[in-house]
Amino acid sequence: MGIPVVEVPTKPFAGQKPGTSGLRKRVPEFQQKHYTENFVQCILDAGLGSKKRGSQLVVGGDGRFLTMEAVNVIIKIAAANGVSRLIVGQNGFLSTPALSHLIRKGHEGKPVDGGVILTASHNPGGPKGDFGIKFNCDNGGPAPDHVTDAIYTATTKIDKYFSAEELSCDFTVPGRNEYEVDKYGKFVVDVIDSVNDYVNFMSTIFDFAKIKRLLTGELTGRKFRVLVDSMHGATGPYVSTLLVDHLGADSNDLLRTVPKPDFGGGHPDPNLTYAKTLVDKMKGGDYDLGAAFDGDGDRNMILGKESFFVTPSDSLAVIADNVDAIPYFRSKKVTGFARSMPTAGAVDLVAKAKGLEVFETPTGWKYFGNLMDAQRIALCGEESFGTGSDHIREKDGVWAFLAWLQILAERRESVPQIVQAHWKKYGRNVFTRYDYENVDAAGANLLMTFLEAQFPAFVGRQLSANGVTYKVAVADNFQYKDPIDGSVATKQGLRLVFEDGSRLVFRLSGTGSAGATIRLYVDSYIPADDAQRLCAPAQDLLKPLVLIALDLCKMEQFTNRTAPTVIT
Ligand code: G6P
Ligand code: ZN
Repeated sequence: MGIPVVEVPTKPFAGQKPGTSGLRKRVPEFQQKHYTENFVQCILDAGLGSKKRGSQLVVGGDGRFLTMEAVNVIIKIAAANGVSRLIVGQNGFLSTPALSHLIRKGHEGKPVDGGVILTASHNPGGPKGDFGIKFNCDNGGPAPDHVTDAIYTATTKIDKYFSAEELSCDFTVPGRNEYEVDKYGKFVVDVIDSVNDYVNFMSTIFDFAKIKRLLTGELTGRKFRVLVDSMHGATGPYVSTLLVDHLGADSNDLLRTVPKPDFGGGHPDPNLTYAKTLVDKMKGGDYDLGAAFDGDGDRNMILGKESFFVTPSDSLAVIADNVDAIPYFRSKKVTGFARSMPTAGAVDLVAKAKGLEVFETPTGWKYFGNLMDAQRIALCGEESFGTGSDHIREKDGVWAFLAWLQILAERRESVPQIVQAHWKKYGRNVFTRYDYENVDAAGANLLMTFLEAQFPAFVGRQLSANGVTYKVAVADNFQYKDPIDGSVATKQGLRLVFEDGSRLVFRLSGTGSAGATIRLYVDSYIPADDAQRLCAPAQDLLKPLVLIALDLCKMEQFTNRTAPTVIT
């Protein structure tokens, strides 16, 4: 007799619709009886379909509050659904990039069918913070829309789930756990070291020896100092192992490397507002390169000496321009690049110069997956602090940091020198983003409806602020047809493109868990020969466009906000 499979009657919960990146809700919502169980059952049914029985899945997350409970639920439900093996990070801990890699790598020679990631990414954690569950497919990437739609439909109809209630697994210790489950037979939980695989993988992508020579001073005769802020998120253990054990950095220069269930009370989002500690410390001028990562380790922010801010749009373009510095890219054919629509078009100019393809996708890493699988792109990024390549199917914060180190080791120039040289070569795509977080959802929706209703009348109109005038060339709601599978994603952001190429984009965030967040993206192109403006502060250069945008959408009237929560 094996462990019994129990059929538990349940009822659907409203709102289990995965957003930009999985299901994200406040912790108490997940703590409702059957809430997590329902969603996990639907992931297995709708996410795996006919592959469910006998499948192998990777499970882990950023260690936020509720992780242990959720891993337990997943183990019991997986066992009772005929899943054959779970590969679980020790203590349920895995960064999102590490998990994506584990799926792609396969397990003991057999393919892995997908993964369940327990994170709400950059959202705060703790008992009142956010939790999240995301399903990734066998390519290691977030489930595409048709899969998340199917999962959602299943959540609206569910009336029972299966659970091996009596199964108890200690996933705090690495090793193999085998069980006999009624109906299905053998069920295995392999608890693995959370860090090793990823670190080994990075050593095949980059030239560690060269990076080490840069950091220790052997390369230039001067120590190159880095300052890294893991914000108590998932990157801490990876960064410590990589930088201290392999690359010779000083452990004192690694901040907040211990993962905490509530991120130490912080908001683990690497931007100029929430990673202020790093920004302030970098201002002192002692460090050559600064980086911060988000809760689950897929986002990154890059700073140069004295807190020189590298916009994610520029970071992507600089890496694209220097792909040859990175051994991984030298070993393959780089065919193209991609960026999300709100991301400034700096990378487009690099693609053009190199004669490569470039794609403009909707916001959300999942839209890059098909392009990578079809080998149309090798590198991509988003303005939301996401940079990555086809080494996995998630963005990868630590990878981006290593990519910068490799480029710095190759070029032996400073971060500001590299970025400014880039602008002098290609011109500069100046970018800023205003976020109005947690505004009243009704007001936010009204703002978008109000704005879109005026779009037909906008084309050809001249809009001015601070004595600068822009003429509208295009006004639309962005739509994307996937060039690989032909699927169409509509309503991906309201976009005003002016005759000089400057853009205003308005979008509602898809990653919040309460209220609504309005994002206003602004970008403009400064030609390389405009010496006067080329290196001016972004906020000065974009001020007129910001004023035009705020006036057009009646931001204050609809949201009662006089200022954004975050400016990037
Ligand atoms: C997550 C996704 C990114 C996406 C971002 C957008 O981080 O992984 O690919 O760019 O969310 O968030 P938003 O809040 O703007 O929908
Ligand atoms: Zn994240």
